[in-house]
Amino acid sequence: LRIFVPGDAGALAVGADDVAAAIAKAAATAGVSVDIVRNGSRGLYWLEPLVEVELPTGRVAFGPVSVEDVPSLIAAGLFEGRGERLFLGRTDEIPFLKAQTRFTFARCGIIDPASLADYRAHGGGVGLMRAAALPPAEIVAMVAASGLRGRGGAGFPTGIKWKTVLEAAGARKFVVANADEGDSGTFADRMLMEGDPFSVIEGMAIAGLAVGATRGYLYIRSEYPHAIARMKAAIATAGAAGWLGPDCAGTGRAFDIEVRVGAGAYVCGEETALLESIEGERGEVRAKPPLPAHKGLFGAPTAVNNLVTLASVPFVLSEGPEAYAAVGFGRSRGTMPIQLAGNIRYSGLFEAAFGVTLGELVKTVGGGTLTGRPIRAVQVGGPLGAYFPPALFDTPFDYESFAARDGLIGHGGVVVFDDTVEMAGMARFAMEFCAHESCGKCTPCRIGSTRGVELLDAMIAGREVVKNAALLEDLCDIMKFGSLCALGGFTPYPVMSALRHYPGDFGLAPAATA
Ligand code: NAI
Ligand code: SF4
Repeated sequence: LRIFVPGDAGALAVGADDVAAAIAKAAATAGVSVDIVRNGSRGLYWLEPLVEVELPTGRVAFGPVSVEDVPSLIAAGLFEGRGERLFLGRTDEIPFLKAQTRFTFARCGIIDPASLADYRAHGGGVGLMRAAALPPAEIVAMVAASGLRGRGGAGFPTGIKWKTVLEAAGARKFVVANADEGDSGTFADRMLMEGDPFSVIEGMAIAGLAVGATRGYLYIRSEYPHAIARMKAAIATAGAAGWLGPDCAGTGRAFDIEVRVGAGAYVCGEETALLESIEGERGEVRAKPPLPAHKGLFGAPTAVNNLVTLASVPFVLSEGPEAYAAVGFGRSRGTMPIQLAGNIRYSGLFEAAFGVTLGELVKTVGGGTLTGRPIRAVQVGGPLGAYFPPALFDTPFDYESFAARDGLIGHGGVVVFDDTVEMAGMARFAMEFCAHESCGKCTPCRIGSTRGVELLDAMIAGREVVKNAALLEDLCDIMKFGSLCALGGFTPYPVMSALRHYPGDFGLAPAATA
């Protein structure tokens, strides 16, 4: 009998280890032979720890399970896949899961993340084997045809980036996977690394073969100890299986992966600061050009991609670019792992084709606020993302639609606030965050963020609000157009959206900022 109890950090945080131990102990007492698999999370975090029992007809789920629940669940027939309280029926019939289109997260929460055999049994590895038989330019052409764009936030076409690296002159080249997932409310990178680590390795190896790189660096934030351990173990397993090393996937070409751990700076998620960090330098942003694709890590052509981007590539190779491009909205093709967080009833990972509206996401999928109060604001795209009021809930989730409304989808983080939120305070927090995380290289961000905090403090105290609002707008303009990177350049998004949509919170009449 196989029972699944997630080993994902989100499940561990709410007692999954204790639940697994309690089930094992109860099974031993009852004389039932149980194999407890520590899978990744299905992404239904409000139900964690989500315990699943494998039946001949499929898996059934129970959740959220606490240690105290275990005796009564077993008495009600847990080992037979039956139950009353906490019984959720077939896992794949749970509406939150059933409504998804899982391309990148197809295996996450289903397989044993420690087992390469299980990964292969669920279709893993097919993309790498296909890539191994193709010339690099053809792999790049497939990725370009899929329409895949950078899932870190900028949405740059992955095929064009890879073509640039492939065609750049250089004796050695690198692939860098960016898993410095610093955006508030995001956890897609972590979930994948903990739940389906071989998909990350496969994506990186395909990238290596495509651009001609011999080495890959996987940069993971230090706040993710479980992901770090999981990825290191998986890299060793993949190496022993011949996926990595001097003869990557039987191609005769070398490709190795090394894990590097960040030290907690948000700006190290910016690609050039990340490269500095890998090189052992202070995490400070480099001026572009040169682009990393031309002159990146140690001066060599480097493909820096977000982890989700890379993990989406095996699907493109195994199922074909047309299958990936078949879903989506406008120029945003394929799926996006949207992460629902904050004050929301059903928090978790929802992978869907681009085009679902923000309102559907937070109301229908997410079930509204956890507090039951009305939604007042939704911040999309991390701490540098704009706040959207309910009036903009018809915005389709895609790169262009959000940009057209002065927002961004970023890495897919959606953070919900109810009507108790105080938006001037949120705007102040954005400036304060920028001041704290600024690398200090350019003036608009280094000085501007501190001046921004002062202006907002004055407005919150009710001092010369109209004059200070005009100054704040001016400052945001300078930061937006004068900053070297997205940290200083995007901080105006949360600040200006708060000012524009919630002027009353700043002591302004609606007309003052219209
Ligand atoms: P960017 O637009 O400057 O560049 C995007 C990517 O395309 C980079 O890798 C760049 O090197 C590459 N690129 C641009 N032109 C190219 C060309 N002609 N050939 C080859 N490659 C080319 O954006 P940036 O500054 O890299 O990222 C900003 C984004 O980061 C924002 O949209 C924001 O949403 C996101 N972000 C994500 C965070 C996270 O935790 N995932 C945190 C903070 C920001
Ligand atoms: Fe550094 Fe801020 Fe300038 Fe970016 S915008 S380079 S974080 S000072």
